[in-house]
Amino acid sequence: MAAHERFHYASLDAVQQDCARLGVSLPMTEDLSILATPCAFGSVTLPNRLVVQPMEGCDGEADGRPGPLTLRRYARFAGGGAGLLWAEACAVVPEGRANPRQLMLTRENLDAYKALVAQMHETARRAMGPNFSPFFVLQLTHSGRYSKPAGVPAPLIAHHSPIDASSHVDAGTPLVSDDYLDRLQDAYVTSALLAQEAGFHGVDVKACHRYLISELLASFTRDGRYGGSYENRTRFLRETIAQVRAAAPGLLVTTRMNLYDALAYPFGWGMAREGIAPDLSEPLQLIGALAALGVPGLNTTVGNPYYNPHVNRPYDKPVSGRPVPNEHPLESLARFLAITRTAQQAYPQLPMVGSGYSWLRQFFPQIAAGAVTQGWATLVGGGRLAFAYPDFARDILQHGALDPRKVCLACSGCTQIMRDGGMSGCTIRDAQLYGPIFKAGRTAEA
Ligand SMILES: Cc1cc2nc3c(=O)[nH]c(=O)nc-3n(C[C@H](O)[C@H](O)[C@H](O)COP(=O)(O)O)c2cc1C
Repeated sequence: MAAHERFHYASLDAVQQDCARLGVSLPMTEDLSILATPCAFGSVTLPNRLVVQPMEGCDGEADGRPGPLTLRRYARFAGGGAGLLWAEACAVVPEGRANPRQLMLTRENLDAYKALVAQMHETARRAMGPNFSPFFVLQLTHSGRYSKPAGVPAPLIAHHSPIDASSHVDAGTPLVSDDYLDRLQDAYVTSALLAQEAGFHGVDVKACHRYLISELLASFTRDGRYGGSYENRTRFLRETIAQVRAAAPGLLVTTRMNLYDALAYPFGWGMAREGIAPDLSEPLQLIGALAALGVPGLNTTVGNPYYNPHVNRPYDKPVSGRPVPNEHPLESLARFLAITRTAQQAYPQLPMVGSGYSWLRQFFPQIAAGAVTQGWATLVGGGRLAFAYPDFARDILQHGALDPRKVCLACSGCTQIMRDGGMSGCTIRDAQLYGPIFKAGRTAEA
């Protein structure tokens, strides 16, 4: 592993040379045309290969409806040209909210979500022309050990692990029961039906980043129906997806799934039995099972944003109090892209969304196009990039380039706001709005 460095590349050649120095490989091409090509995703055809990744703004209202800043964000995303807008984590039960402002779709606030979807369609048409129709997926979540519904940690865990100390879990914290998990499947079905009624084309049964379902996948040490064997650990995700599909014909039912936790066995999923190298045999087996259930595609991710954030979102600066990673961002990125490549190449017919590219700044499009051209992914998403530059896709598709003055600087400002309990956005490119929120959060911390 090489020393961490901040982004300092003036050309794609310079990125390539540094990859050679580090002995890692990233796909790249100057020909971006593939990003403008349509792509089948289950029963629908996405207009292009670019995706807005789920990015929580922590700006909903107390009852879970979108707030004014939520509406602003989604209007900006919808008018930004991406063919697939993967809306952020939306809690299926109140106790599973990650913060008091996390979105939560209920029968009572359904009309507010219908208005959100209508606004997204309208904005997309206005910005991109009357024939442009992006697709909208809503991510359904239970935050598990990171639940904080009243603003203080209230962890609900599937098993104890070495990350307990860093997630407000002590030896006495009980595990969620199998009965609780059985009932929770019904909550996913209810939320998915509401999402369909609101007008979303699809839902994501979120299984990543160590939230509850992601933790279940790694619950080797848990007893009962949801722990121990591969069948038991993957049961919740498989059964929930099957139930949602059965209850909501016509709805795309997908998942954003971790393929690698970077947390040693027996506490991590996608791990070799020793060390922290990936072993994708179980994730690949699960992808096969989900494909057989009829998922239209997958959004792939890795790591844990609280515990080892550089693994899934390489950055220049960590959030306050966290160490600088002990590897080069290009190494983190190359590992992540190679993991998605392995999955995509194992299931070439199942479109997979690649993540983690925002650190690449203005070279995002060339690496994204390289990945799609070489079959490392079928679609590529921007997360922090979308906060900074909501119309990144439009500039790639219409102008063949990103403006370096608008890209994400991987400064971790958006994450810092979240950690400080504020409403999140880009502190640099949207500074008028989010600069003061960032400062207020930092002042309160000091
Ligand atoms: C502020 C913030 C909020 C996020 N919210 C979500 C979320 O709601 N759901 C999710 O799956 N990932 C979430 N992520 C992760 C991103 O979707 C993405 O995977 C990550 O930032 C890496 O991609 P990037 O390099 O394009 O930013 C969030 C990340 C950040 C920084």
